Amino acid sequence: MTVYELARSRKSNRCFSTEPVPIDDVLYAIMVALEAPSGANRQPWRFILVRDPRVKESLRREAERWEKKLHESKSIPEWFAEWLRERGITWRKEFLTRAPILIVVLADKRAPYSRESVWLAIGYLLLALEERKLSSLTYTPTNPKAIARILGVPDQYTLEAIIPVGKPDCIKEKEPRISLEDAVYIDKWGVRLA
Ligand SMILES: Cc1cc2nc3c(=O)[nH]c(=O)nc-3n(C[C@H](O)[C@H](O)[C@H](O)COP(=O)(O)O)c2cc1C
Repeated sequence: MTVYELARSRKSNRCFSTEPVPIDDVLYAIMVALEAPSGANRQPWRFILVRDPRVKESLRREAERWEKKLHESKSIPEWFAEWLRERGITWRKEFLTRAPILIVVLADKRAPYSRESVWLAIGYLLLALEERKLSSLTYTPTNPKAIARILGVPDQYTLEAIIPVGKPDCIKEKEPRISLEDAVYIDKWGVRLA
């Protein structure tokens, strides 16, 4: 598959089967992520693979506690609340316990452009998981510090994302994308591709 084909077929998945996934496939995806460029080549990424059901349970409990507060606070803009409703996304994060593996992605705050670099690596990681026919979700918890604390992450690292990985348990449409013509201008803002 070409990179474009992988990018086209990848989609975020929020419902996972509990079927185990080969750890080697996940390690392969991380190996790919390690090849991403980074500010001053500081490679500020670290990954924690969570497989223990008790750890997953405590991450979910902590994540949901905050997600529930957020969803009930009415501080979510109406357009976003509707977008979430349409997709059945609630404060419940079942994927944190159902997915057989969670990849917790950390960024070393001391490195230049640490978050940008880590997010680039996440992009590589998602495509590599797709290549191995594994579904994933980029979950950005509302309370990353509290979750990092559960995992014993040192203060100099921020928790950027939790990526559940596994086989899908439901069928989901690909979210629409804007066209090349709408995304690209030539030489100057507003000048479209001929
Ligand atoms: C930076 C970032 C943060 C995201 N955070 C969440 C999240 O917290 N929860 C969630 O369900 N999806 C999250 N997503 C997934 C997006 O909703 C999803 O990528 C987007 O709707 C496009 O759908 P696709 O990934 O299926 O193409 C996030 C994606 C990105 C890139």
